Amino acid sequence: MTMDASGFTKKLVGIVSIGLLCAPPARAQRTAVEAEHGMVVSVYDVASQVGADVLKKGGNAVDAAVATGLALAVVYPYAGNIGGGGFMMIHLADGRDVAIDYRETAPAAASHDMYLGKNGKPLPRGPGSSTQGWSASGVPGSVAGFALALEKYGSHKFAWAELVEPARRLAADGHVVTAFNASRLLVRNETLAPYADSKRIFLKDGALRKAGEIFSQPELAATLARLQKDGPREFYEGETARLIADGMAKNGGTITLADLKNYRAVERTPLHGTYRGYDVVTMPPPSSGGVLVLEMLAMLEPFDLAKLGPNSSAKYHLLAEVMRRAFRGRAIYFGDPDFVKVPVAGLLDRGYLATLMKNFDPAKATPSTALPDLAPAGWDAAAPKAAAAQSQDTTHFSIVDAAGNAVANTYTLNGGFGSGVTIPGTGILMNNEMDDFTAKPGSPNFFGLVQGEANAVAPGRRPLSSMTPTFVFKDRRLFLVTGAPGGGSIPNGVLQVIVNVIDHDMPVGFAVEAPRIHHQWLPDGIGYEPYGLSVDVVEALRGRGHILEMRNTYGPEKKVPLSEYYPNDTMTIMIDPKTNLRLGAADPRKPDAKAVGY
Ligand code: GLY
Repeated sequence: MTMDASGFTKKLVGIVSIGLLCAPPARAQRTAVEAEHGMVVSVYDVASQVGADVLKKGGNAVDAAVATGLALAVVYPYAGNIGGGGFMMIHLADGRDVAIDYRETAPAAASHDMYLGKNGKPLPRGPGSSTQGWSASGVPGSVAGFALALEKYGSHKFAWAELVEPARRLAADGHVVTAFNASRLLVRNETLAPYADSKRIFLKDGALRKAGEIFSQPELAATLARLQKDGPREFYEGETARLIADGMAKNGGTITLADLKNYRAVERTPLHGTYRGYDVVTMPPPSSGGVLVLEMLAMLEPFDLAKLGPNSSAKYHLLAEVMRRAFRGRAIYFGDPDFVKVPVAGLLDRGYLATLMKNFDPAKATPSTALPDLAPAGWDAAAPKAAAAQSQDTTHFSIVDAAGNAVANTYTLNGGFGSGVTIPGTGILMNNEMDDFTAKPGSPNFFGLVQGEANAVAPGRRPLSSMTPTFVFKDRRLFLVTGAPGGGSIPNGVLQVIVNVIDHDMPVGFAVEAPRIHHQWLPDGIGYEPYGLSVDVVEALRGRGHILEMRNTYGPEKKVPLSEYYPNDTMTIMIDPKTNLRLGAADPRKPDAKAVGY
């Protein structure tokens, strides 16, 4: 049999396509994916591919971020969203760094004690609470954030509608439910089941979605089509806004048309710090994450971590002690900087941080209750004391393009599948970000973080976050793009990736994969990943007085069996300083994560 060139090509294409369809999806792996030009690393292979396609067609990192973020809202409804919010760090090849804050805001009807029951305690999960249902949502910021980023920093080679199209198509045509997504739906069944649209769409009216089946979302596709046609403000002022406000009004929710119309994403000045000669550029408040990472790096710098080794008990002890000290400050001094004065400079002052470490004992844990009450400069002692919380169910993606622009984006619905509410007629799953406010100072929130009055609920305020999209520069050249989900464990995850690369000289895939620990001041204990520490190290840490538990965050995830345990994953890109190759490290903690480069 003979075959002409085009016949051969067709057959080859056929074989390759069949191969792609049959081959198991390329999973995250210890060896980073290398690419010469551009790289997208996200929690979900389809979304990484969407972003990489935009890069290949000449889009920049911001264009790709918009397409990836919207695609994740369809294929990863656990945390990807248009009904939530987040933070985007942008590095421009001309050297500028930008921080976009598209955190949700409290609706105008929100009030200080709205989540307290008659007994003065935070209402349990359910109607009226900050964790579930119609009154748990802040005004969503994702669409406004993506639109702002695109307008100011996109390449302008792509119209907004073109970047929405892959997400719309995935919603209309459906995507294949992965085993991981099916397991998430099962685990969070109780979040979604009470709300008719959520039950119908995500739980197939109780039949549950199985791995391998096609899941299409026609209402979400129609919403995305409206956003394509009328532009991003449609979400805030058009039919979508009307549907959100109507749903809220009919079901005792708090968000109104005016709240949506008034929502704005804002640019903030990124934070800058240094660590062993590297520059670290990260997210400022209302996220606490960037400040915490810079504080912890500064506290670590006087110690020879390389000598302690990557996994000694001495190193984990030191990490836990700097985490403890930084997180105490998080619980007291942080809130929305548009409403309270967060003493960022005081917190980052090296002298202040050295004082915090004065009682560090290499042989003994310092009980959290024994930390001295040392306020940073700039803190108004008369201000009401804060106390704080976070969820595990956020997601992060990292992007670098051919020109050297980069995006580190972390966004969330807060809890997995957010408030559980899908707005009728829209397919939009809403956030439960109001739980990131302090419902009651000193009471741990749903996720176990203690917070304070500086983060109290008030109309128009943004709740405190831990999201930490971060860039690291070596000799002023972009070196790492990283970030993670995991509520309070986010800054600690980012910290450990940075330390693994800089102090332990780990290749990026190893740095991302290496076991991590978590300490958040209260409760006073070290969480460690299942099987992440050796028995000897655990014993040595216990010998120093630490309490250890095989987990890395505190809160309801504690109830999840270890086999169901998915701790914070960091989606990271390193740019090899020698070769300029983009090295994409998708965290194997998330089974559908993938680095896609070209
Ligand atoms: N909702 C998790 C965070 O903002 O950190």
